[in-house]
Amino acid sequence: MLEIYPPSDDSYFLSNILKKEIPKLLNKNKNPGVLEVGCGSGVQLSTLKGLEVKSLLGLDINQAAVNHCRGLGFNCILSDLFSNIKKKFDLIIFNPPYLPEDKDEPKSSRLATTGGKEGSRIINKFLKQAKKHLNENGKIILLTSNLAKKIYWKDYKKKLLGKKKLFFEELYVWELNAPTDSSLGVYLGRFLISYKLFNT
Ligand SMILES: C[S@@+](CC[C@H](N)C(=O)[O-])C[C@H]1O[C@@H](n2cnc3c(N)ncnc32)[C@H](O)[C@@H]1O
Repeated sequence: MLEIYPPSDDSYFLSNILKKEIPKLLNKNKNPGVLEVGCGSGVQLSTLKGLEVKSLLGLDINQAAVNHCRGLGFNCILSDLFSNIKKKFDLIIFNPPYLPEDKDEPKSSRLATTGGKEGSRIINKFLKQAKKHLNENGKIILLTSNLAKKIYWKDYKKKLLGKKKLFFEELYVWELNAPTDSSLGVYLGRFLISYKLFNT
């Protein structure tokens, strides 16, 4: 049986950043659609609910975590990253598994903590998929650690929202923006119009 990741230093660090950032988001958009990937114990969902986020969905690959969050009254679905997600969101939050694999780690907790040899396997998959699920001007809030190597940020613009030194690692919380397909379409449209005007 897979364990549900208990709220830990990384969870509380992310939760404190959400307490600072979500009110700013709510000032701009009264009802943002928010998705938490890997909701685990529901600690971030509870923080978001406490901050009056109304449109809230959680997902996890671990059925026990999904059942637990549903038991707390949250909308939650079983999904491997975005495999069961069709919608787009204004904010996507993820505290991912980021530790490099360790053979001594029990299988029951590995899914929640480790991300392949470099620690970045799930993060990189997430970064590849996430931008297709962002509304225009949508953002991602992602936690990473200096222990996760070879993160491919691609065309995301990143801003550091906070860092925290722990005994054996340093944690970071990033805000990420990516050009969405529709904004790319608008840029291309503008480019073609200017090109035509310039050449006639
Ligand atoms: C570090 S825990 C974070 C849990 C909780 N959000 C928190 O902040 O304490 C990572 C969570 O991601 C989930 N997870 C791991 N791989 C996943 C995947 N491919 N798709 C969805 N969830 C995944 C794990 O089951 C676990 O609940």
